[in-house]
Amino acid sequence: MGKVETWPGRGSFVLAAIGSAIGLGNVWRFPFIAYKYGGGAFILVYLVSLFIIGIPILILEFALGYHFKSSAPGALRRISSRWEWLGWFALLAGFGVVSYYVVVMGWAANYFVYSANLAWGENTESFFFNKVLNLSNSIFSIGSIRLNILLGLIVCWVWILLSIWKGPLTVGRVVYVTVTVPWLILIVFVIRGVTLPGAMEGLKYYLTPNFAQLRNPELWHAAFSQIFFTLTIGFGVMIAYAAFLPPKSDIVNNALLIALADALTAFIAGIAVFATLGYHAYMVGKPVSEVAKGGPSLAFVVYPMIINSLPGARLCGLLFFAMLLTLAVDSAFSLVEAISAGVTERFGWRRWKVNVGIMIVGILVGLIYTTSAGLYWLDVVDHFVTHLGLFSVALLQCIAAGYFYSLRTLRVSINEYSDIKLGKSWEYLIKYLVPPVSIFLLVCSLRKDIISPYGGYPRLATFLGGWLPIFLFVIISIVLARIAQKRDAGGFTP
Ligand code: PHE
Repeated sequence: MGKVETWPGRGSFVLAAIGSAIGLGNVWRFPFIAYKYGGGAFILVYLVSLFIIGIPILILEFALGYHFKSSAPGALRRISSRWEWLGWFALLAGFGVVSYYVVVMGWAANYFVYSANLAWGENTESFFFNKVLNLSNSIFSIGSIRLNILLGLIVCWVWILLSIWKGPLTVGRVVYVTVTVPWLILIVFVIRGVTLPGAMEGLKYYLTPNFAQLRNPELWHAAFSQIFFTLTIGFGVMIAYAAFLPPKSDIVNNALLIALADALTAFIAGIAVFATLGYHAYMVGKPVSEVAKGGPSLAFVVYPMIINSLPGARLCGLLFFAMLLTLAVDSAFSLVEAISAGVTERFGWRRWKVNVGIMIVGILVGLIYTTSAGLYWLDVVDHFVTHLGLFSVALLQCIAAGYFYSLRTLRVSINEYSDIKLGKSWEYLIKYLVPPVSIFLLVCSLRKDIISPYGGYPRLATFLGGWLPIFLFVIISIVLARIAQKRDAGGFTP
């Protein structure tokens, strides 16, 4: 990270942070998680989580970056050298997400091409599983690499790198387009979705709250994890972005704006998806809860259905997948920015070299998801990286800032230039609410994952795609923190 880099104008920070937040998490992940956890039951818990943990932790990440003017590893090191590893761990967990995120972008890139002749036809589910993925029937039958997906993966990585080639300052400009256009397209989808026959059943499923579910820890865990994913919390990204802020910035206002814009986008995407599920349920005569397979495939089955029903379907398809890609690209590059900010700051390496390195490792790791068992691996990695990785980072950041630093100092520094003043309740949330609640949820779900492996996959698969990477991330982070600190002390030159 350059010493003097700051955002060109106020709007660009907000847009870049919104750009990082709004992405596939809203349009692709949110609908399938909401579907999996029963629609309305999930939404209620999601909204509560947004206010009690999402926004407070987003403010905390902004505060850390702004106050220490440093990337995640650097900022956490300023709390105590013992915490630096957590910054690296956040970046690695984020990398874990990006490794499959860009593959989903690759799918979208393929769909962009398919739109030209609506290649998916009427049976969008079978098209996705058989033609696009060539899905095998078990996680260990990996078959061979799907060249169409590999090509999509490579094109998307190159695009990500080109978007930030000239540094964070150019990011501010790219996002003006990538953030605004997608909104318009989503609105068209919503209008079409809700006017389809049967749509109301889908919306009922989506919007009827189920209070009994408030007592289900699994649901809370999924909601917290989705909030972290969608607000880009626990990736070290928001810390790095806030480090580029000029002095006298209004953090609280920005955090609220970003969180609300993000939640609204997910909510709107949800309307389009659930209305279409209602329509599909009506057509095939099944209940909404059983009409689709769900999981990471949902978006690629449902959106093409809406597209089929629109006038000018081809053009709508092209626009929609272009939108999905532009939404995703600024999320993906925000993580690359965060990693290279961390590495250049702590190790002094050249930014472009770090970026190219990330791309190469990203493509290599991504290969597993391009195989015929790719969807299964993606599902496992997504579960562990979000439920365990991002979740632990968010929790530990609260502990680090709450118990090893002074939240009051952070609060005072933010409040100085914020219109809305943060009250003491923010400190209480971070210090006394988040840690015990998260530890409880984590223990419940770790227990469950240990007793019966996630998703019914073989134990070896959840070990290789879940426990092992997380364990390696911890070890690598500790090693990186050590090396960086030795370098500080002048005893090590890489
Ligand atoms: N917040 C992003 C989204 O919702 C998630 C993300 C951020 C993914 C950064 C990758 C890198 O899509």
